[in-house]
Amino acid sequence: MANPIAEELNGIIREGNTHVYEMLSDVGKALFFPKGILSQSAEAKVKAHRFNATIGMATEKGSAMHLPAVMAMVNGLTPEQTLTYAPSFGIPALRKTWKAAIIQKNPSLSAKAISLPIVSQALTHGLSVVADMWVDPGDALLLPDKLWGNYNLIFQVRRGAEMIQYPLFDSEGKFHLKAFKACVMSEGEKRGKVIVLLNFPNNPTGYTVTPDEAAEIKETLKNLAESGTNVIAVTDDAYFGLFYDEQCLQESIFSTLTGVHPRLLCVKLDGATKEDFAWGLRVGFITYGVTVHGDPVPLYDALERKTAGAVRGSISNASHLSQEIVLKAMGSQDYSAAKAEKLRIMKERAEEVKRVLSDSRYDGAWAPYPFNSGYFMCLRLKTVDAETLRVHLLDKYGVGLISLGKTDLRVAFSCLEKEDIQELFDTVYHGIKDLEEMGHTT
Ligand SMILES: Cc1ncc(COP(=O)(O)O)c(C=O)c1O
Repeated sequence: MANPIAEELNGIIREGNTHVYEMLSDVGKALFFPKGILSQSAEAKVKAHRFNATIGMATEKGSAMHLPAVMAMVNGLTPEQTLTYAPSFGIPALRKTWKAAIIQKNPSLSAKAISLPIVSQALTHGLSVVADMWVDPGDALLLPDKLWGNYNLIFQVRRGAEMIQYPLFDSEGKFHLKAFKACVMSEGEKRGKVIVLLNFPNNPTGYTVTPDEAAEIKETLKNLAESGTNVIAVTDDAYFGLFYDEQCLQESIFSTLTGVHPRLLCVKLDGATKEDFAWGLRVGFITYGVTVHGDPVPLYDALERKTAGAVRGSISNASHLSQEIVLKAMGSQDYSAAKAEKLRIMKERAEEVKRVLSDSRYDGAWAPYPFNSGYFMCLRLKTVDAETLRVHLLDKYGVGLISLGKTDLRVAFSCLEKEDIQELFDTVYHGIKDLEEMGHTT
């Protein structure tokens, strides 16, 4: 027997868009935000002016009980802002501020209705919540062949999704639209529901599609939706904003895809992790873009409640301290200027990588995959095995890079000072020559 609150939410979702209801996983259909202790204490917060003894925290003299040693570490925030539980939805001011920031960074969204973001424990947890809500065992998750490895644990190992990959690049080094279309159409027609994970800027290659490529992706997903397949487009925008040339799409592809078709549900995952250089704060967001019949508010409210239920059932709530830090930082006077300065530094490094790699001396050793954004770039090695080279570089030169498969070597230029970039690639080149001389070629 389904929980009556879940049933009520399902009814609201069905009324707003029946396809969105169909797309929910079994877990997603069963999810709800409990009324029990949380709503009773929320009510008490408003009305219990004499004594409020509802929730599992401790108070003293009208303030959150705290150890001085803990609060001594936190400058400028009160115990209430730091130590008390945040709501499972996230603190309201941060949700509003982040939504406004999403629209500011993606101006074409200003004409579209999107949900309020739900706060997650950064993107990994956001992806995990998405997997709980929208992925049933055996569902198809479509991804490129160059991807962040953790999708495997999140979607395949934990939720039983079938990961189906298409080549990210064609032979000319462009986004492989033909392979993308073929993969999406054939899986979609077979199954009636697909989850398409789009990650730009891409980890590991540092590639973001162009506006034309984004338009083609949109057409493909729209055609699939028109043919009767339910499509969930999950955009992993971890590295959003770190764009280094004008040719690449400057908005999230979430903006391109939102509101395109009732059978196309868009879920945006983003966060302070990389965008605000705050990896360990663990603050991320889950935002929905849906086509709705009539007023979008009830449908979004129902999706937000289910999503907050998934947060409640996994981590209960994300760190209040971290959320306050991000909120205060976003409201600080130098926030935009400081971010622009960091972007300038990262862009300079990307340009230096491009300059160094333009040397024809390296042509026999590797070909770089296209990159225009993000933290990384990737080399396709021509003569030696990537893992053999990685170990050799580490042992002989003390240089640490990431090997991916047999041919690919990922370089996080986000961690390199501009003046060290030439030396880094020269060292990789020497490492390759060493292996070639030792006869360790592929
Ligand atoms: C593409 C991609 N998505 C998500 C994440 C995880 O981000 P978070 O630290 O916010 O969980 C990473 C981290 O490396 C990533 O590269």
